[in-house]
Amino acid sequence: MTEETASEKLEEEEIVIEVDEPEPTIEDLPGVGPATAEKLREAGFEDLLAIAVMSPPELAEQAELGEAVSAKIIAGAKKLANIGGFVSGAALLDRRKRVQKLTSGASSLDELLGGGFETQAIVEVFGEFGSGKTQIGHQLAVNTILTADQGGLGGEIVYIDTEDTFRPERIAQMAEAVGIDPNDALDRIHVARAYNSAHQILLVDEIKRMAKNIEIKLVIVDSLTSHFRAEYIGRGMLATRQQKLNRHLKELKQVADVQNAIVLVTNQVQAKPDAMWGDPTRAVGGHIVGHASTFRLYLRKSKGGRRIARLIDSPNLPEGEAVFTVTSEGLRD
Ligand code: GTP
Ligand code: MG
Repeated sequence: MTEETASEKLEEEEIVIEVDEPEPTIEDLPGVGPATAEKLREAGFEDLLAIAVMSPPELAEQAELGEAVSAKIIAGAKKLANIGGFVSGAALLDRRKRVQKLTSGASSLDELLGGGFETQAIVEVFGEFGSGKTQIGHQLAVNTILTADQGGLGGEIVYIDTEDTFRPERIAQMAEAVGIDPNDALDRIHVARAYNSAHQILLVDEIKRMAKNIEIKLVIVDSLTSHFRAEYIGRGMLATRQQKLNRHLKELKQVADVQNAIVLVTNQVQAKPDAMWGDPTRAVGGHIVGHASTFRLYLRKSKGGRRIARLIDSPNLPEGEAVFTVTSEGLRD
């Protein structure tokens, strides 16, 4: 390890410790006992920042509390919440300089993304069943192991599998095709089956713990939304679902930034009966997932087993499309 990368590593470790400090919860607010905490939670106020930005009458109404108590709680939340702050443009530029790019194995797709999948970003891949979302996940997992001059990130992978579609055999096949020992590849890909959305959220804490010992460069959540969709049904649950998803994504983004890693999340397209006139590319999580992700790729199937990926609202790249195929060896042009 060179001196430079050693000091980089140290910097990352310092940040990891910061992230792992227990964050204050609503129980730490003045005047909040178990009953009030429950009322706040029931009204969807689990996040201190969400409370800090309310006005006393608003909070009183939504959480069914007195106005004086609400005012006290809000004042407390303003002190405890991590409001964030300003960083200099120079510091941001410095962080951007650390961005690394990962090849997908298909040059058309890499070009669409300006040279590959970027670290410090959440990439949302959405599309209908069989469009290739899970295949992209498997391929990126394998490629992450490759060295930087091979287009990889030389790191380890965490795969949160919510649909039981992770296939070690497929990893072995793709690894062999790029000249990696299949067993070596499987050793470096850490898979956790998430049984429900709460478990899925908890696994992010586990990732932060693991990151102290291994260099995680890719986190995959396949699928980001399936549990949320199954558990929070109907209009009445929509706000809660979005709030939980939003928080989950924020935590994932934090991992991406601190680890200088890629977070890849998959999302299925919602079948809409009025799709003929509506936007057929509407993803399940709706706007919140859309805004939280840095890159959004919409996948669709085309003739002859081809796949078309469309880049949607990226911060610094033009919209466009790439064609690739899924072969037995993996993603190719
Ligand atoms: P859902 O999770 O159901 O929403 O779909 P998905 O978007 O994750 O689809 P997935 O990535 O699982 O794509 C499945 C498709 O990939 C299959 O229909 C095949 O076309 C292709 N595929 C998967 N494995 C292989 C393989 O070993 N060889 C080849 N040639 N194609 C494969
Ligand atoms: Mg899948």
